[in-house]
Amino acid sequence: MIQNLFTYPLFVDKNIKLSIDIKEECLNILNDTKISNEYKFGKTTWFNDHNIKKTNLINFKNYVLEQVKIFSDFLKLDINRSNFKISEIWISNMSQYGHHEYHSHVGAYLSGTFYVDVDLNSSNIRFFRPDYLSMKINNVIHFNDYNSKTWDIKPENGLLLMWQSSLPHSVLINESNKRISISFNIDII
Ligand SMILES: [Fe+2]
Repeated sequence: MIQNLFTYPLFVDKNIKLSIDIKEECLNILNDTKISNEYKFGKTTWFNDHNIKKTNLINFKNYVLEQVKIFSDFLKLDINRSNFKISEIWISNMSQYGHHEYHSHVGAYLSGTFYVDVDLNSSNIRFFRPDYLSMKINNVIHFNDYNSKTWDIKPENGLLLMWQSSLPHSVLINESNKRISISFNIDII
């Protein structure tokens, strides 16, 4: 018998209609966002405001909190006793040659990204096993969730990804001039 000890689930949903509905609002917010030296290839609201205004993107925030409940139910949390809150939420538009180094969102419960408007050659998000630096494996016949060190996901309009915040990830070098996404952290009380 073989039993899984730990696994790293990725929550995936697709809501193309929502991505169309909120695109203009995202573009307006990005238009009002100052360029930052710390984000050289594109624009992000992160350096202006870690939590875009309360009145912005209400439908999106409600959608995310609904999906958080579904994911938390899967994780076998008592969702009736839990209070979920979007602790941080920011919009980014990454241009060509932008990327994000390996990092994790320490201190949050869940983190996620929703792709609002991306191109075919917008770069993948890459997830890393937390032990990927020390894991020794060779001669793999077929990569799967037991023997992979990294996992790439291609962004698509309307794709929502959520993961436990301790899971490391990066964004590969972007080849497109448009990669609009909303990222967020979730707290649980
Ligand atoms: Fe991140």
